[in-house]
Amino acid sequence: MIVNSILETIGRTPLLHLPLRDGEVDLYLKLEIFNPTGSMKDRMALSMVNSLPLTPNEATADIVESSSGNTASALAMISAVRRLVFTALMDSHASLDKILTVRAFGGDVRVVGKSDGALATDERDEEAKRIATEEGAHWTEQHNNPANATGYEGLAAELLDDLGPTITHFVSAIGTGGSLCGTAHQLRPHIPGLQVIGVEPVGSVIFGGQGGCYRQSGTGTPEGANVGLVIDYDVIDLGRKVSDDKAFSMCHYMARHHGLLVGGSTGGAIYEALSVAREAPVGSRIVTLACDSGTKYLDTIFNQEWLLLHKINLLDVEAQFADLFAARIGSPN
Ligand SMILES: Cc1ncc(COP(=O)(O)O)c(C=O)c1O
Repeated sequence: MIVNSILETIGRTPLLHLPLRDGEVDLYLKLEIFNPTGSMKDRMALSMVNSLPLTPNEATADIVESSSGNTASALAMISAVRRLVFTALMDSHASLDKILTVRAFGGDVRVVGKSDGALATDERDEEAKRIATEEGAHWTEQHNNPANATGYEGLAAELLDDLGPTITHFVSAIGTGGSLCGTAHQLRPHIPGLQVIGVEPVGSVIFGGQGGCYRQSGTGTPEGANVGLVIDYDVIDLGRKVSDDKAFSMCHYMARHHGLLVGGSTGGAIYEALSVAREAPVGSRIVTLACDSGTKYLDTIFNQEWLLLHKINLLDVEAQFADLFAARIGSPN
Protein backbone atom coordinates (compact mmCIF):
# COMPACT_ATOMS: atom_id res chain seq x y z
CA MET A 1 0.00 0.00 0.00
CA ILE A 2 1.43 3.36 -1.03
CA VAL A 3 0.28 6.36 1.00
CA ASN A 4 0.97 10.06 0.63
CA SER A 5 0.69 10.95 4.30
CA ILE A 6 1.14 9.03 7.53
CA LEU A 7 -2.41 10.11 8.37
CA GLU A 8 -3.69 7.78 5.65
CA THR A 9 -2.45 4.84 7.74
CA ILE A 10 -4.94 5.57 10.52
CA GLY A 11 -7.64 2.90 10.72
CA ARG A 12 -8.28 -0.30 8.72
CA THR A 13 -6.73 -2.24 11.58
CA PRO A 14 -6.78 -6.06 11.60
CA LEU A 15 -9.07 -8.26 13.71
CA LEU A 16 -7.45 -11.10 15.62
CA HIS A 17 -9.80 -14.08 15.93
CA LEU A 18 -9.47 -16.23 19.06
CA PRO A 19 -11.85 -19.20 19.12
CA LEU A 20 -12.97 -20.08 22.67
CA ARG A 21 -14.73 -23.07 24.27
CA ASP A 22 -13.74 -25.29 21.38
CA GLY A 23 -15.25 -22.91 18.84
CA GLU A 24 -18.55 -22.38 20.66
CA VAL A 25 -17.76 -18.71 21.21
CA ASP A 26 -15.49 -16.36 19.25
CA LEU A 27 -13.43 -13.48 20.59
CA TYR A 28 -12.23 -10.85 18.12
CA LEU A 29 -9.57 -8.34 19.12
CA LYS A 30 -9.56 -5.18 17.02
CA LEU A 31 -5.85 -4.46 16.85
CA GLU A 32 -5.81 -0.69 17.25
CA ILE A 33 -2.14 -1.03 18.12
CA PHE A 34 -1.54 -0.96 14.35
CA ASN A 35 -2.43 2.74 14.13
CA PRO A 36 0.64 4.93 13.53
CA THR A 37 1.19 5.99 17.16
CA GLY A 38 0.18 2.57 18.46
CA SER A 39 -3.27 3.40 19.81
CA MET A 40 -6.90 3.86 18.82
CA LYS A 41 -6.55 7.53 19.81
CA ASP A 42 -5.17 8.38 16.34
CA ARG A 43 -8.74 8.05 15.08
CA MET A 44 -10.36 10.47 17.51
CA ALA A 45 -7.42 12.91 17.43
CA LEU A 46 -7.78 13.23 13.64
CA SER A 47 -11.52 13.69 14.01
CA MET A 48 -11.06 16.40 16.68
CA VAL A 49 -8.45 18.27 14.61
CA ASN A 50 -10.68 18.07 11.52
CA SER A 51 -13.51 19.60 13.54
CA LEU A 52 -11.48 22.65 14.64
CA PRO A 53 -12.63 25.98 13.25
CA LEU A 54 -9.31 26.65 11.49
CA THR A 55 -9.49 29.29 8.78
CA PRO A 56 -8.31 28.03 5.36
CA ASN A 57 -5.39 30.47 5.26
CA GLU A 58 -4.27 29.88 8.83
CA ALA A 59 -0.62 28.84 8.44
CA THR A 60 -0.32 27.60 12.01
CA ALA A 61 -2.64 27.32 14.96
CA ASP A 62 -2.10 26.39 18.58
CA ILE A 63 -3.90 23.44 20.06
CA VAL A 64 -3.83 22.22 23.63
CA GLU A 65 -5.05 19.02 25.29
CA SER A 66 -4.91 17.41 28.69
CA SER A 67 -3.95 13.77 28.22
CA SER A 68 -2.37 10.85 30.02
CA GLY A 69 -0.41 10.10 26.88
CA ASN A 70 -2.10 8.40 23.95
CA THR A 71 -4.31 11.32 22.90
CA ALA A 72 -1.32 13.62 23.28
CA SER A 73 0.89 11.38 21.13
CA ALA A 74 -1.79 11.23 18.44
CA LEU A 75 -2.41 14.99 18.46
CA ALA A 76 1.34 15.63 18.35
CA MET A 77 1.74 13.36 15.31
CA ILE A 78 -1.18 14.99 13.48
CA SER A 79 0.06 18.47 14.45
CA ALA A 80 3.44 17.68 12.90
CA VAL A 81 1.76 16.84 9.60
CA ARG A 82 -0.76 19.70 9.70
CA ARG A 83 1.68 22.42 10.88
CA LEU A 84 -0.12 22.95 14.18
CA VAL A 85 1.65 23.96 17.39
CA PHE A 86 0.66 21.44 20.03
CA THR A 87 0.89 21.67 23.82
CA ALA A 88 0.18 18.60 25.97
CA LEU A 89 -0.67 18.85 29.66
CA MET A 90 0.36 15.67 31.44
CA ASP A 91 0.46 14.29 34.99
CA SER A 92 3.74 14.08 36.85
CA HIS A 93 3.48 10.27 36.65
CA ALA A 94 3.11 10.18 32.83
CA SER A 95 5.59 7.70 31.45
CA LEU A 96 8.84 9.13 30.14
CA ASP A 97 8.24 7.32 26.86
CA LYS A 98 4.94 9.15 26.31
CA ILE A 99 6.50 12.54 27.14
CA LEU A 100 9.38 11.82 24.77
CA THR A 101 6.98 10.70 22.04
CA VAL A 102 5.13 14.03 22.12
CA ARG A 103 8.44 15.91 22.08
CA ALA A 104 9.74 13.76 19.21
CA PHE A 105 6.81 14.99 17.10
CA GLY A 106 7.72 18.58 18.02
CA GLY A 107 5.02 19.01 20.68
CA ASP A 108 5.45 20.89 23.93
CA VAL A 109 4.83 18.98 27.20
CA ARG A 110 3.88 20.79 30.39
CA VAL A 111 3.73 18.65 33.52
CA VAL A 112 0.87 19.56 35.83
CA GLY A 113 0.08 18.44 39.40
CA LYS A 114 2.08 17.20 42.37
CA SER A 115 4.97 14.80 42.00
CA ASP A 116 3.36 12.18 44.29
CA GLY A 117 2.07 10.15 41.34
CA ALA A 118 -1.60 11.09 41.83
CA LEU A 119 -3.70 11.76 38.74
CA ALA A 120 -4.22 15.50 38.23
CA THR A 121 -7.09 15.40 35.75
CA ASP A 122 -8.81 18.53 37.08
CA GLU A 123 -5.60 20.60 37.27
CA ARG A 124 -4.75 19.57 33.71
CA ASP A 125 -8.16 20.68 32.49
CA GLU A 126 -7.93 24.00 34.36
CA GLU A 127 -4.55 24.71 32.77
CA ALA A 128 -5.86 23.75 29.30
CA LYS A 129 -8.76 26.14 29.77
CA ARG A 130 -6.38 28.91 30.86
CA ILE A 131 -4.11 28.38 27.84
CA ALA A 132 -7.14 28.40 25.54
CA THR A 133 -8.52 31.59 27.07
CA GLU A 134 -5.32 33.55 27.63
CA GLU A 135 -3.17 32.30 24.76
CA GLY A 136 -5.94 31.79 22.19
CA ALA A 137 -5.23 28.10 21.64
CA HIS A 138 -7.87 25.60 20.50
CA TRP A 139 -8.60 23.20 23.39
CA THR A 140 -9.77 19.93 21.90
CA GLU A 141 -11.37 18.99 25.27
CA GLN A 142 -11.60 15.25 24.62
CA HIS A 143 -13.97 14.50 27.54
CA ASN A 144 -16.68 16.81 26.19
CA ASN A 145 -15.97 16.87 22.45
CA PRO A 146 -18.53 15.06 20.23
CA ALA A 147 -15.76 14.67 17.60
CA ASN A 148 -14.07 12.24 20.02
CA ALA A 149 -16.97 9.76 19.78
CA THR A 150 -17.61 10.34 16.06
CA GLY A 151 -13.91 9.64 15.46
CA TYR A 152 -14.80 5.95 15.88
CA GLU A 153 -17.37 5.81 13.08
CA GLY A 154 -14.72 4.28 10.83
CA LEU A 155 -13.90 1.65 13.43
CA ALA A 156 -17.54 0.60 13.69
CA ALA A 157 -17.82 0.49 9.88
CA GLU A 158 -14.74 -1.76 9.73
CA LEU A 159 -16.27 -4.12 12.32
CA LEU A 160 -19.51 -4.26 10.33
CA ASP A 161 -17.55 -4.88 7.11
CA ASP A 162 -15.64 -7.75 8.71
CA LEU A 163 -18.31 -9.35 10.91
CA GLY A 164 -21.64 -7.95 9.75
CA PRO A 165 -24.45 -7.88 12.30
CA THR A 166 -23.25 -11.11 13.95
CA ILE A 167 -21.49 -9.35 16.85
CA THR A 168 -23.27 -10.18 20.11
CA HIS A 169 -21.08 -8.39 22.69
CA PHE A 170 -18.85 -5.32 22.58
CA VAL A 171 -16.57 -5.26 25.62
CA SER A 172 -14.05 -2.45 25.95
CA ALA A 173 -12.20 -0.10 28.28
CA ILE A 174 -13.76 3.24 29.14
CA GLY A 175 -12.07 6.56 29.93
CA THR A 176 -13.54 9.51 28.06
CA GLY A 177 -16.05 7.01 26.63
CA GLY A 178 -15.29 8.01 23.04
CA SER A 179 -14.23 4.59 21.79
CA LEU A 180 -16.86 2.52 23.67
CA CYS A 181 -19.86 4.83 23.22
CA GLY A 182 -18.87 6.16 19.78
CA THR A 183 -18.48 2.63 18.38
CA ALA A 184 -21.58 1.33 20.16
CA HIS A 185 -23.71 4.18 18.78
CA GLN A 186 -22.77 3.18 15.25
CA LEU A 187 -23.21 -0.56 15.83
CA ARG A 188 -26.57 -0.43 17.63
CA PRO A 189 -28.81 0.46 14.66
CA HIS A 190 -27.40 -2.57 12.80
CA ILE A 191 -27.38 -4.90 15.85
CA PRO A 192 -30.31 -4.06 18.13
CA GLY A 193 -29.55 -6.87 20.61
CA LEU A 194 -25.87 -5.93 21.05
CA GLN A 195 -24.62 -6.12 24.67
CA VAL A 196 -22.27 -3.19 25.38
CA ILE A 197 -20.01 -3.68 28.38
CA GLY A 198 -17.68 -0.94 29.66
CA VAL A 199 -14.62 -1.94 31.69
CA GLU A 200 -12.97 0.43 34.16
CA PRO A 201 -10.23 -0.17 36.73
CA VAL A 202 -11.15 -0.92 40.34
CA GLY A 203 -10.80 2.53 41.96
CA SER A 204 -12.27 4.41 38.98
CA VAL A 205 -15.75 5.85 39.52
CA ILE A 206 -17.42 5.92 36.08
CA PHE A 207 -19.82 3.19 37.19
CA GLY A 208 -19.90 4.40 40.82
CA GLY A 209 -18.26 2.61 43.75
CA GLN A 210 -15.29 3.41 45.94
CA GLY A 211 -12.54 5.59 44.47
CA GLY A 212 -8.93 4.50 44.85
CA CYS A 213 -5.50 4.24 43.26
CA TYR A 214 -5.12 2.32 40.00
CA ARG A 215 -2.28 2.03 37.54
CA GLN A 216 -4.02 1.03 34.30
CA SER A 217 -3.17 3.94 32.05
CA GLY A 218 -5.63 6.02 30.00
CA THR A 219 -8.73 4.21 31.20
CA GLY A 220 -11.15 5.10 34.02
CA THR A 221 -11.90 8.32 35.87
CA PRO A 222 -10.46 8.99 39.33
CA GLU A 223 -12.63 10.07 42.24
CA GLY A 224 -13.24 13.82 42.24
CA ALA A 225 -12.75 14.26 38.48
CA ASN A 226 -15.73 15.10 36.30
CA VAL A 227 -17.22 12.38 34.13
CA GLY A 228 -17.40 14.08 30.73
CA LEU A 229 -20.26 14.43 28.29
CA VAL A 230 -18.82 11.90 25.84
CA ILE A 231 -19.84 9.05 28.16
CA ASP A 232 -23.38 8.09 27.18
CA TYR A 233 -24.69 5.74 29.85
CA ASP A 234 -27.76 5.01 27.70
CA VAL A 235 -25.69 3.05 25.19
CA ILE A 236 -23.91 0.95 27.87
CA ASP A 237 -25.66 -2.16 29.19
CA LEU A 238 -23.20 -3.11 31.89
CA GLY A 239 -20.21 -1.63 33.72
CA ARG A 240 -17.50 -3.96 35.04
CA LYS A 241 -14.47 -3.24 37.21
CA VAL A 242 -11.14 -4.98 36.86
CA SER A 243 -8.16 -4.90 39.24
CA ASP A 244 -4.64 -3.97 38.17
CA ASP A 245 -3.55 -7.51 39.14
CA LYS A 246 -6.01 -9.09 36.71
CA ALA A 247 -5.44 -6.55 33.92
CA PHE A 248 -1.65 -6.76 34.00
CA SER A 249 -1.68 -10.56 34.38
CA MET A 250 -3.72 -10.73 31.19
CA CYS A 251 -1.14 -8.52 29.43
CA HIS A 252 1.57 -11.03 30.35
CA TYR A 253 -0.61 -13.94 29.26
CA MET A 254 -1.38 -12.35 25.87
CA ALA A 255 2.30 -11.62 25.27
CA ARG A 256 3.51 -15.09 26.18
CA HIS A 257 0.73 -17.19 24.68
CA HIS A 258 -0.49 -15.14 21.74
CA GLY A 259 2.56 -13.03 20.88
CA LEU A 260 0.53 -9.87 21.37
CA LEU A 261 1.83 -6.93 23.41
CA VAL A 262 -1.04 -4.84 24.76
CA GLY A 263 -1.40 -2.16 27.42
CA GLY A 264 -3.14 -2.50 30.79
CA SER A 265 -6.57 -1.22 29.75
CA THR A 266 -6.66 -3.87 27.02
CA GLY A 267 -5.53 -6.53 29.47
CA GLY A 268 -8.46 -5.55 31.69
CA ALA A 269 -10.94 -5.58 28.82
CA ILE A 270 -9.75 -9.00 27.61
CA TYR A 271 -10.00 -10.34 31.17
CA GLU A 272 -13.63 -9.21 31.32
CA ALA A 273 -14.35 -10.40 27.78
CA LEU A 274 -13.16 -13.89 28.76
CA SER A 275 -15.37 -13.80 31.85
CA VAL A 276 -18.31 -12.87 29.59
CA ALA A 277 -17.30 -15.64 27.14
CA ARG A 278 -17.53 -18.28 29.86
CA GLU A 279 -21.25 -17.58 30.41
CA ALA A 280 -22.22 -16.49 26.87
CA PRO A 281 -24.62 -18.60 24.73
CA VAL A 282 -23.16 -20.83 22.02
CA GLY A 283 -22.54 -18.81 18.85
CA SER A 284 -21.67 -15.59 20.68
CA ARG A 285 -19.18 -13.27 18.97
CA ILE A 286 -17.44 -10.91 21.35
CA VAL A 287 -15.47 -7.89 20.10
CA THR A 288 -12.86 -6.14 22.24
CA LEU A 289 -10.58 -3.26 21.32
CA ALA A 290 -6.83 -3.68 21.76
CA CYS A 291 -6.59 0.00 22.71
CA ASP A 292 -2.84 0.46 22.73
CA SER A 293 0.43 -1.37 22.40
CA GLY A 294 2.32 -2.99 25.25
CA THR A 295 5.54 -1.52 23.85
CA LYS A 296 4.46 1.65 25.67
CA TYR A 297 4.65 -0.21 29.00
CA LEU A 298 7.89 -2.21 28.82
CA ASP A 299 9.25 -0.23 31.79
CA THR A 300 6.09 -0.68 33.86
CA ILE A 301 3.68 -3.58 33.26
CA PHE A 302 6.45 -5.73 31.78
CA ASN A 303 9.12 -4.72 34.31
CA GLN A 304 9.42 -7.02 37.34
CA GLU A 305 10.94 -4.27 39.53
CA TRP A 306 8.04 -1.92 38.79
CA LEU A 307 5.50 -4.68 39.51
CA LEU A 308 7.21 -5.38 42.84
CA LEU A 309 7.42 -1.70 43.75
CA HIS A 310 3.69 -1.25 43.13
CA LYS A 311 2.76 -4.53 44.82
CA ILE A 312 1.19 -6.01 41.68
CA ASN A 313 0.61 -9.77 42.00
CA LEU A 314 0.66 -11.58 38.70
CA LEU A 315 -2.09 -14.19 38.70
CA ASP A 316 -2.21 -17.50 36.89
CA VAL A 317 -4.77 -16.42 34.30
CA GLU A 318 -3.64 -19.29 32.09
CA ALA A 319 -5.04 -21.75 34.61
CA GLN A 320 -8.08 -19.58 35.25
CA PHE A 321 -9.13 -19.51 31.59
CA ALA A 322 -7.64 -22.88 30.54
CA ASP A 323 -11.12 -24.27 29.82
CA LEU A 324 -11.84 -21.46 27.34
CA PHE A 325 -8.59 -21.86 25.42
CA ALA A 326 -8.42 -25.65 25.80
CA ALA A 327 -8.76 -26.36 22.08
CA ARG A 328 -5.62 -24.32 21.40
CA ILE A 329 -3.37 -26.89 23.10
CA GLY A 330 -1.57 -28.77 20.37
CA SER A 331 -2.95 -26.45 17.71
CA PRO A 332 -0.43 -25.56 14.98
CA ASN A 333 -1.36 -21.86 15.34
C1 LIG B 1 -4.69 2.95 26.68
C2 LIG B 1 -6.06 3.50 26.77
N1 LIG B 1 -7.07 2.65 27.02
C3 LIG B 1 -8.33 3.09 27.14
C4 LIG B 1 -8.63 4.43 27.02
C5 LIG B 1 -10.04 4.87 27.16
O1 LIG B 1 -10.56 5.21 25.92
P1 LIG B 1 -11.72 6.28 25.77
O2 LIG B 1 -11.15 7.59 26.20
O3 LIG B 1 -12.10 6.24 24.35
O4 LIG B 1 -12.83 5.86 26.68
C6 LIG B 1 -7.61 5.34 26.76
C7 LIG B 1 -7.88 6.78 26.67
O5 LIG B 1 -7.00 7.58 26.82
C8 LIG B 1 -6.29 4.86 26.62
O6 LIG B 1 -5.27 5.68 26.35
